[in-house]
Amino acid sequence: MNRLTLTLTTLFATACVWAGDNAPVNGDVWLDTSLNPINAHGGGIMRHGDTYYWYGEYKGEETYRSPDVGWECYRTDFTGVSCYSSTDLINWKFEGIVLSPDAENPSSDIHPTMVVERPKVIYNDNTGKFVMWMHIDNANYWQATAGVAVSDSPTGPFTFIEAVRPNNAESRDLTVYKDDDGHAYLIYSSEGNATLYISRLTDDYLKQTGVFTRNFAGESREAPAIFKHNGKYYIITSGCSGWSPNEAAYAVADNVMGPYQLLPNPCTGVDADKTFYCQSTFALPLPDGSFLAMFDRWKKDDLVDSRYVWLPISFSEEGMTIPWSENWTDTTPDMTPLSQE
Ligand code: DGJ
Repeated sequence: MNRLTLTLTTLFATACVWAGDNAPVNGDVWLDTSLNPINAHGGGIMRHGDTYYWYGEYKGEETYRSPDVGWECYRTDFTGVSCYSSTDLINWKFEGIVLSPDAENPSSDIHPTMVVERPKVIYNDNTGKFVMWMHIDNANYWQATAGVAVSDSPTGPFTFIEAVRPNNAESRDLTVYKDDDGHAYLIYSSEGNATLYISRLTDDYLKQTGVFTRNFAGESREAPAIFKHNGKYYIITSGCSGWSPNEAAYAVADNVMGPYQLLPNPCTGVDADKTFYCQSTFALPLPDGSFLAMFDRWKKDDLVDSRYVWLPISFSEEGMTIPWSENWTDTTPDMTPLSQE
């Protein structure tokens, strides 16, 4: 074996270890099954049948600062919403860009010059459609709208429907939540990000019903991640400091629409006061009844290289905690592939 062959073989073997036994270390580059870095930021995961689908912001290669904007408005052009599939949450196959930019129409809400963030997808059992909600904004973030798109397949393509100000209110960071009874809710930062709205969606999940609550008024929370545990609803949020990290908080309620009790930072361990230099994006229910909290570790001047930090959520009589661990697979109890359940 000559030196070149040896080098290539070594590289290939190393790559196989990364991709095959791809136990992710929090904050490291995480490769998909084609050995490309996973590009799905501000993401969320939908389980459908035996498969998990991870949707996120497919960040463009070039990060730039929006001109004529007073604050640190770093961004990339909108290059699409990506989708990855997995049965074990570790090995992710790139399914492609499931919502593509509309480069032809300069006034489109999904033109490359627009901001499209935090896409989340839920399945509607009645219509058989997959519904995506996402934050849609113009380059200086003053449009403050929520966009909706729909597809017949979890792997797209999604058709963009519209971007709206839900309930005639601003909408920036958002998530969408489907409850056990099939009702779904849009949860979004509003009123200059000072207040978090929870808005019930119509039965097709495409519009607001007009029934909504204003939560945490004046508390300035964003990056909502919601889940239900033992009959109670939990929302993890961040403060508002652009791409820079701040202290997380969580809230708990008996009803999905609130009222919520806002509670202190659930994170524990080194750098917990900065949420481990991360920001929440989603809380994933696992088959054994536990939950994984998903965070982004933003790299504001090179957004495509932002990293992922996933941490198991713990519960005790004192409440909820999210302890730091380097490798969430060490502490997550049940990683059985869905197909073997
Ligand atoms: C914080 C939000 O959580 C992110 O999704 C992004 O909109 C940045 N602000 C932009 O500064």
